[in-house]
Amino acid sequence: MKFFIDTANLAQIKEAQDLGVLDGVTTNPSLMAKEGIKGQDNILKHYVDICKIVDGDVSAEVISTDFEGMVREGEALAELHPQIVVKIPMIKDGIKAIKYFSEKGIRTNCTLIFSAGQALLAAKAGATYVSPFIGRLDDVSTDGMILIEDIRIIFDNYGYETQILAASVRHPIHIIQCAKLGADVATCPLSAILALLNHPLTDKGLAQFLADAKK
Ligand code: E4P
Repeated sequence: MKFFIDTANLAQIKEAQDLGVLDGVTTNPSLMAKEGIKGQDNILKHYVDICKIVDGDVSAEVISTDFEGMVREGEALAELHPQIVVKIPMIKDGIKAIKYFSEKGIRTNCTLIFSAGQALLAAKAGATYVSPFIGRLDDVSTDGMILIEDIRIIFDNYGYETQILAASVRHPIHIIQCAKLGADVATCPLSAILALLNHPLTDKGLAQFLADAKK
């Protein structure tokens, strides 16, 4: 399973990259705003800065909601750097834009996926990734993992190459569940990736080994 980091914070991206397990980055307008990145030029420069830190795919989201706007923005984003994947919302014009980009060889990530039907439609349009938001489903008392499982079954039934990019990951259990269900990617906050390291028996065992080594 690939690990993406879900942030626009350059220090956190670098920390995950330095760990040696990072396969890519996802951003969204809220994450960019959280870092105080404003203005088109600064936003585009920030995407390039992210691409310089990581080796893998970097999702950059359009903010237009009409086909022409999404195409214009997406083409500009794709020209920025070969690692850029154009992130498109799951709306009617978004599906048209994904189809357009797919035919032009521009990679896409269809975001805000909350149902298997939406994922199927995005895959049919040729999306490179679909992003089911599991944490936000959990927030409304709906098991996000059932969605991951359903999409995996559907994509495998028909051999869709669209990758399942589990998003809105909140904690390490989400990552483990995604791995068990066959999600291709989990995009996670740094805290969830680092939480995978922790086990009290590891700490206890290491303390004992180090103490014994001094004997
Ligand atoms: C990723 O592509 C999404 O933008 C992100 O995972 C959303 O996560 P949130 O629900 O924690 O905002």
